[in-house]
Amino acid sequence: MRNFILYTLLALILALVLVACGGGGDNSSGEEAGQDLAALGEELYKGQTIGSASSPGCVTCHSLEEGVTLVGPSHTGVGSRAGTLVAGMSAEEYLKESIVEPNAHIVDGFSPGVMYQNYANELSTEQINALAAYMLTLK
Ligand code: HEC
Repeated sequence: MRNFILYTLLALILALVLVACGGGGDNSSGEEAGQDLAALGEELYKGQTIGSASSPGCVTCHSLEEGVTLVGPSHTGVGSRAGTLVAGMSAEEYLKESIVEPNAHIVDGFSPGVMYQNYANELSTEQINALAAYMLTLK
């Protein structure tokens, strides 16, 4: 009888431990998920190469320092201005389009065809979403 109680208790503790460990995945809030996406985006953005073809990374052409033009414009504040550049386009839409269709809108003072043109084929939707989420944090 004593053994039975002991085993029942052990089983109960084990079940509690399993619930405590396994249950964490689903209850992250939307905000946390957004932060995770932006963190992934930052990692992607700052890599020297990116995507399935190891193409040149964003930082090879874009600086995060104000006023520093490498090949493309500095991305200081891009999260703030992205929503103001094209009428009817949200910041997120503009940033995503800039990645997958770089010639759709050209930043003043820059030339078409200079930004790497093939990301649409080399980045996953999640990677594009993550890059946009990260750039939205660059206020
Ligand atoms: C070979 C250089 C090059 C690479 C690599 C590059 N870009 Fe660009 N990018 C440019 C140039 C040049 C422009 C400005 C011309 C234009 O609007 O297309 C630009 C413009 C942009 C814009 C519009 C910016 C604004 O200020 O309105 C965004 C957003 C952008 N790039 C994101 C990215 C991201 C994200 C990556 C990496 C996945 C990347 N770029 C990689 C050269 C590059």
